[in-house]
Order: sequence, then structure tokens, then C-alpha cells
Amino acid sequence: MNIKIAVLASGSGTNLQALIDAPDLGAEISLVVSDRPGIVALDRAHDAGIESAVVPYGEYGSRAEFCSALNEVADGAGVEALVLAGFMRVLDGGLVSAWKDRILNIHPSLLPAFPGADAVGQALEHGVKVTGVTVHFVDEKVDHGPIIAQQSVPVLPDDDRESLHARIQIEEHALYPRVVSAFARGRIVVDGRRVRWE
Ligand code: GAR
Repeated sequence: MNIKIAVLASGSGTNLQALIDAPDLGAEISLVVSDRPGIVALDRAHDAGIESAVVPYGEYGSRAEFCSALNEVADGAGVEALVLAGFMRVLDGGLVSAWKDRILNIHPSLLPAFPGADAVGQALEHGVKVTGVTVHFVDEKVDHGPIIAQQSVPVLPDDDRESLHARIQIEEHALYPRVVSAFARGRIVVDGRRVRWE
């Protein structure tokens, strides 16, 4: 039986769309959660007939209150995992420990290089020849948790943010459904910082 997941997004939701379109995800996207109204990811959820919720970050007095509201929404939907797909908020320790090894994130660099905001710009600025995509479990530090999968992407001499991010996103859209599918089937085992695929 498929596990139920929530996908959290803050923007255009192309990774959400890749998960929606995946032929054999092994997971039912029961809920899409956004931290602000009016984003394209919410339209994608609507078009796919998926329930959505907005937990507006600006309306909470603190990160802890925001995360507690997120927790309530996810619990209420009966989901077993949170899949962050371009979700641009840092989760607090309470939420992370309540969902230990059940929060996945995708980040547009080969972590631990270039964590945080504007990973693509950071890679260009640094002059690396190879960057990529990382899917990892979320822990209490930003872009730090155990790494599940990575895919490299070359940086070409004429790249700007847009061209490089577009090439990275092609890999994201292939990698995230594979990882979520393996996770949903119980094939991903966490052992400290190391993650095994079984
Ligand atoms: C993706 O490239 C994702 O890796 C990145 O935001 C983009 C969202 O695109 N996430 C981060 O930078 C997280 N630190 P999407 O909304 O089209 O899926």
C-alpha cells in the first residue's frame, strides 16, 4: 500500500510536478503545504486534485509557532513523511525531532558545498567546474542531514544562474521521484550519517 506524504513548497513547484507525474511513486501525495499564498505550486496541486494548505510564515510570531502549525497540518492529514520541494523555510528542532528520518529535502548543490540560499550563485561565484543535486534527510542544521543521493552536473564556461539552474533542475526532476519511491518502499536505511539503499 502506498504511504501518504505531504510535499512542502514555496515557489514554482517543478519538483512537486515531477513527483505528481512520476508513474510509480509508491507514495500518495495527500497534501501540498505552502508557506505563502498565491504560489504556482498551489496551482499545480489544484490541477492534480491534491488538497493543499497555506501556513503563512508571516502570520506567526516565531519559527517555533510556525513549525508547530506545520506539524498540526501534517498530522491532521495523516501523512508519514514530509517532502521538501523548494521549501525555503528552516524547520525548528521540535519539528525535526518529531519527524526524525521522515523529512526529505532537495538542494541544488553537492552538499556539503554551498548550503543555504542561492546555492547555484554560490557555485558560480566559487568557480567550481562541477556542482549538482543532493537529496538528504533534514536534521537540526541547515542543509546538513544524512545524504541519500547525489547527482553531479557540469558547470559550463558560459553558464549564468539561469542556465546552470535549468541543467540542475533536469537532474532534480529525475532524482527526487527515484528517491521518494525508494523511501516509500522502505528501501532507504539511515545509519548515523550514512544512508544505505537496500
Ligand atoms: C529547486 O532547485 C530546489 O533544489 C531549490 O529550490 C528549487 C525549487 O524549485 N531548493 C533550495 O534551494 C533549498 N535550499 P521548484 O519550486 O521548481 O521545485
